[in-house]
Amino acid sequence: MLKILKRKLYKYFHKRFVDVQNNIEKQIPKYDLERKHILRLETLSNRSELLERLTKNGVVAEIGVNKGSFSKEILEKSNPQELFLIDAWDSGRYHGGLRKVVETTFEKDIAVGRVQIHQGYSTEMASKFSDGFFDWIYIDTDHSYSVTRDELQAYKHKIKPGGIIAGHDYIQGNWGRILRYGVMEAVHEFCVQEDWELVFLTTEMSNSPSFAIRKITS
Ligand SMILES: C[S@@+](CC[C@H](N)C(=O)[O-])C[C@H]1O[C@@H](n2cnc3c(N)ncnc32)[C@H](O)[C@@H]1O
Repeated sequence: MLKILKRKLYKYFHKRFVDVQNNIEKQIPKYDLERKHILRLETLSNRSELLERLTKNGVVAEIGVNKGSFSKEILEKSNPQELFLIDAWDSGRYHGGLRKVVETTFEKDIAVGRVQIHQGYSTEMASKFSDGFFDWIYIDTDHSYSVTRDELQAYKHKIKPGGIIAGHDYIQGNWGRILRYGVMEAVHEFCVQEDWELVFLTTEMSNSPSFAIRKITS
């Protein structure tokens, strides 16, 4: 009797779960890239290698900072003249205390104006910067389709001609947490609709892959 009840409950909740997943899936558009979107695409081992290929001494933003581990690597490898660190730090996991950690880590660079912290939502922060401001930006926030789509739209004019929008988690989901991401779909949609091309993809398995895109000019 208990076994039958357990099986029924499992079936019920499994169906509910699949329905929710299917609804999320339906809301994520799927765009196929054409040849022109991958013509100059290079694959790299990992995002450290990506940093080696992006502009050095430039004006850079990392959007989604956490406690600044990758920000540190950006400073070391890319030697930006200005690095803007943008994060909401508004959740239990990514709380306000992490801003303090970042402030302490980059104390000297903040003092000389080389590193600047902007706390707030990625899309809202975009209006703080003039058009053609950044050499490149690296997006690593909530990885959902809708937020990534809105971020790409918000920052597309903030990049210098020939500049790059890069980002983390070029994957469809987080299996361990049963979380649907949407970075791949948002990036493909953006490339097709706005005429941008994939220029770098990283291939690591120990971390999520990163992407880098640029406006097609010829
Ligand atoms: C995965 S962590 C960033 C990790 C960091 N880039 C690294 O590699 O060390 C994601 C961060 O994005 C921030 N975040 C999430 N959604 C955001 C949004 N809509 N706007 C701004 N920050 C956001 C979180 O507060 C968190 O600190």
